Amino acid sequence: MTPTETTAAAETAAVLLSKDENWWRQAVVYQIYPRSFADANGDGIGDLRGILSRVGHLRELGVDAVWLSPFYPSELADGGYDVADYRNVDPRIGTLEEFDELVAALHGAGIRVVVDIVPNHSSDRHEWFQAALAAAPGSPERARYVFRAGRGEHGELPPSDWRSIFGGSAWERVPDGQWYLHLFAPEQPDFDWSNREVRDDFLKTLRFWSDRGVDGFRVDVAHSLTKDLAEPLPSAAELAARPKDGSHPLWDRDDVHEIYAEWRRVFDEYDPPRTGVAEAWVAPERRPRYASREGLGQAFEFDLLMANFSAASFRRVVTDTLALVRRSGSSSTWVLSNHDEVRHATRYGLPPLKNDVAGLNGGDEKQGRAWILAGAPADGVDLAAGSRRARAATLFMLALPGAAYLYQGEELGLHEVGDLPDEARQDPTFFRSPGVDKGRDGCRVPLPWSAEGPSFGFGPGGAHLPQPAWFAEYAVDAEEGEADSSLHLYRRALRLRRELQGAEELSWLETGRDDVLAFERPGGWIAVTVFGTEPYALPASFAGRVVVASAPGVEADAAGGGAAPVVLPGESSAWIVRG
Ligand code: GLC
Ligand code: CA
Repeated sequence: MTPTETTAAAETAAVLLSKDENWWRQAVVYQIYPRSFADANGDGIGDLRGILSRVGHLRELGVDAVWLSPFYPSELADGGYDVADYRNVDPRIGTLEEFDELVAALHGAGIRVVVDIVPNHSSDRHEWFQAALAAAPGSPERARYVFRAGRGEHGELPPSDWRSIFGGSAWERVPDGQWYLHLFAPEQPDFDWSNREVRDDFLKTLRFWSDRGVDGFRVDVAHSLTKDLAEPLPSAAELAARPKDGSHPLWDRDDVHEIYAEWRRVFDEYDPPRTGVAEAWVAPERRPRYASREGLGQAFEFDLLMANFSAASFRRVVTDTLALVRRSGSSSTWVLSNHDEVRHATRYGLPPLKNDVAGLNGGDEKQGRAWILAGAPADGVDLAAGSRRARAATLFMLALPGAAYLYQGEELGLHEVGDLPDEARQDPTFFRSPGVDKGRDGCRVPLPWSAEGPSFGFGPGGAHLPQPAWFAEYAVDAEEGEADSSLHLYRRALRLRRELQGAEELSWLETGRDDVLAFERPGGWIAVTVFGTEPYALPASFAGRVVVASAPGVEADAAGGGAAPVVLPGESSAWIVRG
């Protein structure tokens, strides 16, 4: 194509994008952790120019949208989730002009853009928090955050014994003796959401990015924000005993939905309306309100991510989730990996959890956490089994009705980097535990693009987290040349998914085995997953064409049923198209 034709094609793609207001319902959204995706200027930190240079990878992969984790100015006390300025780009990552260029390039490639909004807390470097520190107790500057007098004779004890999510006290003292609340790191002071000024400032931020062409928002810790901090504050033990029914002082309060109703009105000022997806770690039955059309519109479904690789768990999660999304009128979002969790290729190589599916069974144990806590011992994980099961689980997930969220690097089948040296670690959970929980850096190691060259092609310089030698095998250019690679599997599955996608429905098929699941989507699209290790001969009732399989050696395009049935190896998935 000539340059003029290319521009014209990009403009057509952008116009087509603007027409479909339901794009998010069954979209494939690819999460980019900007500091670790691609580095254009060689300073070891991924940047917007780096992402721009890799738009081709995203287009070829076949994703519908990218979600950018925070790229805002930040002191990086929590990997960018400590935002110092909500309406700017970190100079180490780029500029607003480059952001606009990136949005145009992605839209031109037919890819939408979702950005991360972090509303529970800002960075302590945010100008409002700096102003709060400079101002006196009781001032309007302090009223944007949660400041309190301490307990004890001289206020030397924190206002309550609450613990922060990252370890240590949830209160930090300032020089004049007051304390401020931080549910996460001390560098992440919580906003006071009863303050109108805070609410208005976030509306301004939503409009700022929407005006720049952003299509949607991923909302960080969406179940926090509003709090009941009436004195006397309950103790940590009392807090833990409070029901999670919308009246809890800190989490998932009913009144948080007033905020999202206001956000929805802003979303609807745009054509097509902007979208939202809530990161809300709440019980499944509390999820529909976040996902409703009056609220953010969608909420992450994390139960599949929490479930063991087993037919019973997967089936239960899918059935329960689809019932819940029918209640909210939304669609589900399926996730197997993200920037907070042990990569699923590694997770499925770990011993199964006893307390499976936290959300459903009431536990809160996370797969992979125990391994990370134990220092990620190499002999505690079966990597080959993990890879095999991850490929099978991915094909299962990609066939489900609803949206699918992919995390950068999972298309390469990347494993968690479990053995980062302590001096390289960046995650606040590591520093505040202290050192006990190794934290989340192992899934945030910069991506390998080429088997050779500096930082495996991440950039012309080094990488801000050290990459292990085995990254070479998983590099994009290495997998490019291998027909059975994870990269080709993802590309093929995403292309087929686009072709086969229909109404948001599924019906389970009888498989004759407890460890084998099969479901059919409208139009004769069947997905079969063998969870156990025994091979499974496809029954004649599934007759059709195997269009993709997670295990190498299962002939794609082989005829199923009839005289020579297709046999799926243990721990594998295949998609069959009837007829
Ligand atoms: C969310 C983010 C996580 C971050 C935390 C605090 O859970 O996904 O990375 O540390 O919020 O902002
Ligand atoms: Ca850089």
